[in-house]
Amino acid sequence: MEIKASFIDQKRARANFFILGLFDGDKSAPKSLSMLDSAAHHVLQESLQKKRFTGKPGAKLPIYGTSQFKSTDDLLVVGLGKREQFSTEKLRRTAGGFLSQAKCQRAGQVAVLMDSFVGGSVRWQDAFEAVSDALGLADYVFDRYKSKPKDEPKKEIQTVELIYGKKDQRKTAELALERTEIISRAVTFTRNLANEPANVMTPRAFAEEARKMASKQKLKITVFKEPDLKRMKMVGILAVCQGSVERPHMVVLEYGTPYKSKGTLALVGKGVCFDTGGISIKPSKAMEEMKYDMCGAAAVTGIMHAIAELKPKRHIVAVAPLVENMPSGSAQRPGDIITYRNGKSAEVINTDAEGRLILADALLYACETYKPQALVDFATLTGACLVALADKASGLLGNDPVLINRIRKAGEQTGERCWELPMWEDFDDMIKGHHSDILNVGSGGGGTITAAKFLEAFVSCKSWAHLDIAGTAWVNSQKPYYARGATGVGVRLICELLREWK
Ligand code: BES
Ligand code: MN
Ligand code: ZN
Repeated sequence: MEIKASFIDQKRARANFFILGLFDGDKSAPKSLSMLDSAAHHVLQESLQKKRFTGKPGAKLPIYGTSQFKSTDDLLVVGLGKREQFSTEKLRRTAGGFLSQAKCQRAGQVAVLMDSFVGGSVRWQDAFEAVSDALGLADYVFDRYKSKPKDEPKKEIQTVELIYGKKDQRKTAELALERTEIISRAVTFTRNLANEPANVMTPRAFAEEARKMASKQKLKITVFKEPDLKRMKMVGILAVCQGSVERPHMVVLEYGTPYKSKGTLALVGKGVCFDTGGISIKPSKAMEEMKYDMCGAAAVTGIMHAIAELKPKRHIVAVAPLVENMPSGSAQRPGDIITYRNGKSAEVINTDAEGRLILADALLYACETYKPQALVDFATLTGACLVALADKASGLLGNDPVLINRIRKAGEQTGERCWELPMWEDFDDMIKGHHSDILNVGSGGGGTITAAKFLEAFVSCKSWAHLDIAGTAWVNSQKPYYARGATGVGVRLICELLREWK
């Protein structure tokens, strides 16, 4: 599916579908429609006068064309709700919705009348980005393991033209399309990594995919294998992978060189390619979803994919520890104590709290090696986060209110919402050890916070944020612009953060 921007005067080709929005209370059809097709404009105008359509949110009015329509076969008018309440997120969801409608009607050529989607807090540039963003995201399917029926007609849209009405909008429109295309490809890459089953996407296969991506995107990459990890005393990674035949890897991707004025941004992502829980084994219900336990690693790898093309003036590194958490005769046991390179010892009370064990190594490595100005980690870390926030927001914790606010703001702007949880000292007591310095689980609730508290013990960066994406990394039902499966959360968030970060 090709998405392109077209100036209204140059729109010559006939479309199968014109898509336009209407706010609740609007009494007339958008001007752009009258310029493109006066007959269609007339028909819509009449429906509006007869109050057949009010623009309530979610309302849809399909108008089937007649031979008098010059430029389109059919029209689809979508309700946008109250103009004052309109937002880019509402627009993204609307766009996801009309794309699937257009697909169901087997439209090959779609034209979107962009001026009809401008209103409320949505300026026309925002509208452009939101629509192209959502179309790219909504077009994704993970169907490579499905056999293809031969005679079923294709449900594919060839082109979506985003029609703008003012000549001077061209440059901005094209820049917006270029940017969203880069980001959408990175999100697709992330989703593909994460949707692959665990028999395919092993730690070794993940590292191989990262290598291919790095060479295509011209990023520097280092892959540490087991002997390296032993030499580097990555005790958490080694302990977690002990029970699996799949050997651990750690991928480090690097973009740019350290700048003098602006320091390094380090990203860390949890890469548990499958999490059975280990000896503290998980119940079998929904265990198959634990193939997604590497979504943090997939996110930071995808972020680097985007960054290679967005080319921000920064030094950015991503660290992804990759393991499989399995029970076996060689697996780690509850009660085992490991001592990290910074001298802190941890007792493994529960082998299912494995993410924090491997992240500790990666956080230490990132801080030691790069002394980053800012550090952000992504992890499908706790079921408790899903309990607290469902799939509506990622948990956001850390030690720097400025960074946290920036991330929260980027979350509002992209729809990848983040919600802060407190890091009060009171929580430290909950993971205090008896025979070790700390425990890998707390007791008495607050699971998302005590997990972050464990990570904090390995962070020496003054500006650190942790994103618990347990609830947001994948969805089990179709969402307006997410197919069932991995969402690619984190990629759009960090791209937005870097844009705003002057
Ligand atoms: N990967 C899981 C967290 C998870 C569970 C994410 C369900 C998404 C959905 C993590 O490794 C884990 O098992 N955490 C435990 C921690 C507990 C043992 C303290 C959990 O949340 O139950
Ligand atoms: Mn676990
Ligand atoms: Zn896990």
